[in-house]
Amino acid sequence: MTTCSVPNGNEIIRISSGIPGLDPMIEGGFPFPAVIMVAGTAGVGKTTFALKYLSEGARRGEQGLYFTTLSEPTQWMLRYASQFKFIDPEMFGDKIIYSDLGAMIRDIEPADLLNIMEEKIAEVMPQRIVIDPISVIGSMMRGNYRAFLFDMANRLKNWNATTVVTGEVLPGEMYPSDLGYAVDGIILLLMAEEEGARRKYIEVLKMRGTDHMTGKQSIDINRNDGIVVLKSRF
Ligand SMILES: Nc1ncnc2c1ncn2[C@@H]1O[C@H](COP(=O)(O)OP(=O)(O)O)[C@@H](O)[C@H]1O
Ligand SMILES: [Mg+2]
Repeated sequence: MTTCSVPNGNEIIRISSGIPGLDPMIEGGFPFPAVIMVAGTAGVGKTTFALKYLSEGARRGEQGLYFTTLSEPTQWMLRYASQFKFIDPEMFGDKIIYSDLGAMIRDIEPADLLNIMEEKIAEVMPQRIVIDPISVIGSMMRGNYRAFLFDMANRLKNWNATTVVTGEVLPGEMYPSDLGYAVDGIILLLMAEEEGARRKYIEVLKMRGTDHMTGKQSIDINRNDGIVVLKSRF
């Protein structure tokens, strides 16, 4: 973690995103604590982003907690994750704790889900939390999803952690708007068909307290680094 001085003496603590090329776009890293949304369509790299974020923390000796909403057994997730060179399976169960919410979100009351999540957070005491993907919860839970998101974002910030929440959208949508107003940062992962090729981009739409770069930047997804922001072509 690093701190950066601002003229009024209030310092914002930042943690590295773990995505090569992203930290320089956001004054060194994500604010800490904060809730950051990473949004995009299926296959654009949200889970890859989340895994890289947590493994960067593990590499630095920070504790990570990965909530999935997909009812995916650890072994299944690990089989895919270990295809990436930056993933050390030994991290899981140690510096990265995997917690499957999938089995319990159907028909759950918002307050009950928040309590379950907070119990896990209290047990693990992570500096880095991931919720991947959040979108599933909206269609499964009882009650007011918007109010749940708002309470969740506020409670997460009290835990001294920076949380990456992934949001899946349909082609043509930018990000889940019900989550947009509750978070401190919005990062879009985008796909576009150009000259017969499918190109991928990253764009920082919002990052509180941060003089961030605007506009979309090209990214590459590969086995070595996960997601990398490519140097501008201009
Ligand atoms: N081990 C891997 N090596 C190389 N590319 C991968 C690997 N895993 C995933 N990818 C690429 O990254 C893309 C995004 O995957 P993922 O992060 O799961 O997307 P999302 O979570 O947004 O649906 C995949 O469609 C694939 O092209
Ligand atoms: Mg995913």
